[in-house]
Amino acid sequence: MAASDTSLQVLSWAVPCQIYPNLNFTSSLPFKYSLKSAKKGDYGTILRKGRGVTRYHEGNRVMKGVEHVRGQEPGNWSKSFKCNCIRAESVIETFSKDGSKILMIENQSYEATEHLVSEKEGLSSNNGSAHATENNKTTITGVAESLEDEAWKLLRESMLYYCGNPIGTIAANDPCVANTLNYDQVFIRDFIPSGIAFLLKEEYEIVRNFILHTLQLQSWEKTMDCHSPGQGLMPASFKVRTVPLDGDESATEEILDPDFGEAAIGRVAPVDSGLWWIILLRAYGKCSGDLSVQERIDVQTGIRMILKLCLADGFDMFPTLLVTDGSCMIDRRMGIHGHPLEIQSLFYSALLCAREMLVPEEVSANLVQALNNRLVALSIHIREYYWIDLKKLNEIYRYKVEEYSFDAVNKFNIYPDQIPPWLVEWMPKKGGYLIGNLQPAHMDFRLFSLGNLWAIVCGLATTEQSHAILDLIEAKWSDLVADMPMKLCYPALEGKEWRIITGSDPKNTPWSYHNGGSWPTLLWQLTVACIKMERPEIAENAIKIAEKRLARDKWPEYYDTQGARFIGKQAHLFQTWSIAGYLVAKLLIANPTAANILVNVADTALLNAFSCALATPRRNRPRKGTFQNFII
Ligand code: GLC
Repeated sequence: MAASDTSLQVLSWAVPCQIYPNLNFTSSLPFKYSLKSAKKGDYGTILRKGRGVTRYHEGNRVMKGVEHVRGQEPGNWSKSFKCNCIRAESVIETFSKDGSKILMIENQSYEATEHLVSEKEGLSSNNGSAHATENNKTTITGVAESLEDEAWKLLRESMLYYCGNPIGTIAANDPCVANTLNYDQVFIRDFIPSGIAFLLKEEYEIVRNFILHTLQLQSWEKTMDCHSPGQGLMPASFKVRTVPLDGDESATEEILDPDFGEAAIGRVAPVDSGLWWIILLRAYGKCSGDLSVQERIDVQTGIRMILKLCLADGFDMFPTLLVTDGSCMIDRRMGIHGHPLEIQSLFYSALLCAREMLVPEEVSANLVQALNNRLVALSIHIREYYWIDLKKLNEIYRYKVEEYSFDAVNKFNIYPDQIPPWLVEWMPKKGGYLIGNLQPAHMDFRLFSLGNLWAIVCGLATTEQSHAILDLIEAKWSDLVADMPMKLCYPALEGKEWRIITGSDPKNTPWSYHNGGSWPTLLWQLTVACIKMERPEIAENAIKIAEKRLARDKWPEYYDTQGARFIGKQAHLFQTWSIAGYLVAKLLIANPTAANILVNVADTALLNAFSCALATPRRNRPRKGTFQNFII
C-alpha cells in the first residue's frame, strides 16, 4: 500500500498511530506502559490491550486508570497492555501529493518492549479525587494548605493522559455532576491558562505534548454533514477515547477524538483555537528556551496552515477577520458575528507571534509579506474605528450620514441614534475602550473584556489606548469587576434585544453566562495586561476579590447578576480555567517579568510602518499589494 493511502486509512481512525516502515527507531520510549509490536509488517501499529483499562475508562474521564492498572496487575503490564501511542515529539507530519497529512516516526523500529521510565508528579496526584466536605471546602486526599496549593491539586486532577502521557486538562472536573456535556474534553482555549501555569512552574512536558498532539488533529478529516471545513482549522476540543481494536476482541486502543464544531452546540467553528495555539507555542519557546518545537517542519507547516486560512482572500472590505457568531470564547449566539474584537485581538497577537517564529525560507516569503501587510492594516483599522471615548462619542453624535466619498468621516455610515442611552451616561471622562464589533452601519457598543485586555497584551491598542482601557476598568470597577472579576461583556442584552439577538437563549439571560456574566478565568488576561502597562495593583485588587470566594464557591465557571453575586445558574464547578486563571494571575504577580512570554511589543520596523501608513493621506494610500513598501 502506498504511504499516502495508508495515511488516509489510518488518519480516519486514530491519531497518532501511524508508523512507517521506512523509518527505524532504536531509542527507548518513555511510556507508562510496556510497548510491544503487535504484528510485524503491519507498519508497526502498537496496540494497547486489557479489559481492566477499558473498564476503568468507561467510568472515568481522566486517565486515572494508570494507578488502577498498576494496582490490579503488578508486574504484569508488559504482557497485558500494549499501547498504540507514540511520543508526540517523535511524530513527524509531512504531506502527500493529494494534500493529506502523513505521520512518520523518526528513528524508530517496533520491537520496543520498555517499562515505565519514571513516575511523573502530575500522574501520581491523579490518584486523589476532589470532593466537597460538609463545611464547603475542597479537599484532595488531605488538607489543602493554601488557596494556591488547592488550585494546583485541582489543576493536576484535571489532567488528561493519552497513553500515559499528559496531554491537556479537561474543562471541568466536578465529581458531583453526571451530565458533563462536553466539559470532560480538553478545550484548546481553556487549556491556555493551564498551559501557561505549567510553563511558569517549569513543567513543560504537558504543554509540548498538547502542542504536538493538537497539531496532528489539525488535518483531521472533519465534516459537517457533507461539507468539509478548511484545512488549517484547529478543533474546539478533543477527548481521549478507548475503543475496541479491529479484529481483536480483547484489545482496545486509545484514540484522540477532536471536535471541530461538528458536535458542538450550535455547530460553531472555533476560529480562536488556532490563534491561541500559535500564542501558546511562542510562550512555550520563550519560557522553556526550547525552540526546537517551533522549528520542526511539521510545526512550521501547522503555523503556515493557520495563517493561510486566516489570510485567504474573501469578500471582505476590512482587514479584520470575518467570522460567524460564537466563534470564540462566546461560543453561542450572542450577536458577535462579523468582526468581533476578541477574534481581532487574537488574530493580531497570533500574527505577531507567528512572525517571530516562522523560519525564513522561500515557502513562507509570500505569507510573511501578507502577514506584515495585514498587521499594519489591522492595527490602523482597529485603532481608528473601534476606539471610543467621550471625545469620539461626541464626534459620532454629530456624524453626518449618507456620505459618498473616499474621504467620508463617517465611513461606515453609522447613524448617531445608534449610540445607546446607557453609554451616554456611562462613559467616564477619563478612559475609553474598543467596541465589540464594527460592520457597515453598525457599531456594537458593548464592552467585551477579553478583546480589550488582549488588545493591550499584544499591542493592538496603542499605549495611550491601553492606559485608557485600564482607566476605564478602574472607573467602572463596580460594573466590570464588582464581586468577581470580571464581566465577559457589559452591559447585558435585555428584553426585546435579548430575544432578537440571542434567539431567546435561556442560558444567556441578562447578566448570566455570556450575556453579562462574570468569568473568573479573565483574571489572568487582566493580570498580563496590567503588568504590561506597569499597573499591577489593578490586578492585585481584582485577585483579592476573587480569593474571597473562588475556593469557597468551588471554582465556578461563571457568576450571575449585575454585581456577580450568585454562582452562575448553570455554571460548572471545579472549572479548570477558573482554577488555572487564578494560578497564572498569582504566579505573574509574584514574577511580573514572566509575563513577557505572552506580551508582544512592536519592533521599530513595525512602528515605522505604522507611522508611514498613518502619515499618508487616505487618498494616497497604496492599493492592495503596494503596502509592500512597509515590508519589514
Ligand atoms: C463554554 C465557554 C467556552 C468554553 C467552554 C468549555 O462554552 O463559552 O468558551 O471553552 O465552555 O469551558
